[in-house]
Formats: sequence, structure tokens, C-alpha cells
Amino acid sequence: MSSLEDRVERELEAFIRDGVYKRLKFLDGPQAARVRMEEHGDVIILSSNNYLGLSNEPAVVEAGRRALDRFGAGTASVRFICGTFSVHRDLEAACARLVGTPASLSFVSCWNANEALPATLLGEEDIVISDQLNHASIIDGIRLGKAITKCQTAVYRHADMADLDAKLAGARDRRVRMVITDGIFSMEGSIAPLPDLLEVCRKHQAVLVLDDSHATGVLGANGRGTAEHFDVVGEIDIITSTLGKALGGAAGGFAAGSAAVCDYLTQRARPQLFSNALPPTVAASALASIEFLEAHPERVTRLRDNATYFRQRLLELGFKPLPGETPIIPVILGETSAAIQMSDLLLAEGVFVTGFGFPVVPQGQARVRCQISAAHTKDDLDQALAAFRKVGRQLKLIG
Ligand SMILES: Cc1ncc(COP(=O)(O)O)c(C=O)c1O
Repeated sequence: MSSLEDRVERELEAFIRDGVYKRLKFLDGPQAARVRMEEHGDVIILSSNNYLGLSNEPAVVEAGRRALDRFGAGTASVRFICGTFSVHRDLEAACARLVGTPASLSFVSCWNANEALPATLLGEEDIVISDQLNHASIIDGIRLGKAITKCQTAVYRHADMADLDAKLAGARDRRVRMVITDGIFSMEGSIAPLPDLLEVCRKHQAVLVLDDSHATGVLGANGRGTAEHFDVVGEIDIITSTLGKALGGAAGGFAAGSAAVCDYLTQRARPQLFSNALPPTVAASALASIEFLEAHPERVTRLRDNATYFRQRLLELGFKPLPGETPIIPVILGETSAAIQMSDLLLAEGVFVTGFGFPVVPQGQARVRCQISAAHTKDDLDQALAAFRKVGRQLKLIG
């Protein structure tokens, strides 16, 4: 056996032994409030980013179907080489309109968009400073940027404005100071202190980049994201977000900002220059999702009401979810094995909630993370809460 095969097999065995091996669950139907899961039947899903329930919204599915007929299955090459579809231009206009920037540029994922930014926009004279709890795609984007451009990098303590202020003060000789933060931190469900970030960035003439992947479609009265939540739409320099969560959930992402920044990314971002664009079907479904959201802000209200209801009832049952006001509601359990056990027991009760352990979250802070959707009915939420009560008592987490 080759040394590679030998190593990966040993490590896989260790994952199983340590109880951290991830077993994929197969679905035989669309993402919805309840999903059809092989071996488990119909289960309520509290573990998806389908925040607005648009994954199987008829208008969204139909838009993809129509695009398949109109544009065919694929893009067949890179945008600047073989031509770019009009649906991408329409999608990019809609993304920019939604998040409140002059322009946007789509990518096959938000991972790609985050990976493109530091490597394309920064140089050796610049620095990028990142929140300690930022998403893996931001971290890897910064690592790549550093390797390619030799830009400086730094990390500030999570949401700690004094630390960020000090780091920016120490970087005043840098040509560009870029600060990157998540809008909603996905493992905590907490919201970045955007007005404070804007103030500190302005003081130091730093560029603020906001990854709003979990906040687009979720925060603000119209789902325009963290900037709308804090009434600062139009004030963020660059916003990245995903089309793979609230906005239909298929795939794709975008970077939004000034026309010049988006044009520069079109000219120079390597994921644009050397990789196909989003399939037109996916772009059309994402566009239909944005149009649906613009016409139906009541979906965002329903999402918020559902999340408030679930959080409140969990507290009444005696659970202690992390405090917050987003549809991400984590319940901390301690060890990874405890989170996996709770997740397994809930699944046996017909409720799918993923357990997260180290290294995704810090050691000793393993958790089950509930994600609420506007698609959940009160019956779905009550049935899920009954399962939480049963399993919570079984595990002696509540009285
Ligand atoms: C904050 C954040 N950024 C980026 C991504 C990646 O998004 P995509 O699935 O579009 O690559 C995610 C997905 O989990 C995320 O949570």
C-alpha cells in the first residue's frame, strides 16, 4: 500500500475511534422544513441554511428549469473566453441592488469570492486584518493572499474593537489596510458589531470587507443583511455573500462593491480567469430568489418570528442556548461525543440537528446548532421541541 493510502486509512480509523467521523446522510427529495432521509424517513430539518425556504419555492425551481431550456446545461469555459450569459449580468445587478453597492461580481461559490479578494486586491505593501472567528474561507483566502502577494496579515480578538484599533494603529505605514469580518458568525449565531467596525475602519482609513453569507436574506426588515440590520446600507466597502444559503441554496457567491473593484476582480481574480462561471440554471434560480425576496419581505418576518419562538421555548424547557437574535441557535454541550450523541438521539426522534465538535469549534465547546427556517410551521417547531425535551431529559441536560 502506498504511504498516502496507509496514512489516510489510519487517520480515518482514528476519526471513527475518536467519535468525530462524519457519516453523510442521503436525502431523496428537496430541502424543505421536512426532508426525506434514506434510512430515517421524513425528518424535520433544523440543520440547513435554507433560511427563507426558497430551495423548493416553485418560482425559484421554475426559473432554473426555464434557464436550462434557454441557455443549456453549462458555460463550457471561462466568461472572458467563451462569452458570458445575460443571466449572470442580471444576477449581478440584483445582488448589488440587494446588498446596496454599485456593482457585484458572481463566483461559483462564496468560498471562491473570499479566496479571490486578498490575493487579487492586496500587494506586498498592504495588510489584511481578520476577526479571530471568521469563516474558514476567509482564513484560507488570507493564507492564499499572503502566499501569492506577500501582504502582511493579522488577527484581532473576536469582535474586540480595542484590539482591532491597536492593530490598525500599528499598521499605519501600510498602503492598504483591509479588515474582514463575518456578518453573522455561523457557529455562535452572533452578529458583528458593524457600526463600531465602520467607526474604527474610518478612523484608520481601512477598507471594510463584510462576509454576509449567513445574514443575506436573514437580517434587516427586507433581508438585505447586516448593513440593513444596523441601518448602514451603502456604507460597507466590499460585501461577499453566498447564493447557497437563504437565496435558493443551490450554489454560488458574489463580491459586491464599487464598479472599479468589481471590474478589477473581473480582470484579475484567478477564480474568474481560470474557472467556469456559475451554471446558468443556478444563476437563474438565484436571481429568482432575490426577486422573490424583494417581493415578499414577510418571509423574513416569518423567519424572525420562528426563530424567536423556538429560542424562547428552548429556554422555557431549561436549555441554555447561546444568547442571540438570529435563526442560528447553538446549545453548548461540552465534549464532541456529547454533541454527536445528542444529534443521534434527536435523529431517532425524527429531528435532524448536526452536532459540531473540535476542531470546528474550540475544545470543550461542542454543540448542537439549530437553524430555523421560515419554512417551518408551528407544528414542525413544536414537534422538534418535544424531541428536545425527551432527549434533554434522557441525557439529564434538563429537569
Ligand atoms: C461565512 C461564510 N462564508 C462563506 C461560506 C462559503 O459559502 P459557499 O458555500 O458559497 O462557498 C460559508 C458557508 O458555509 C459561510 O458560512
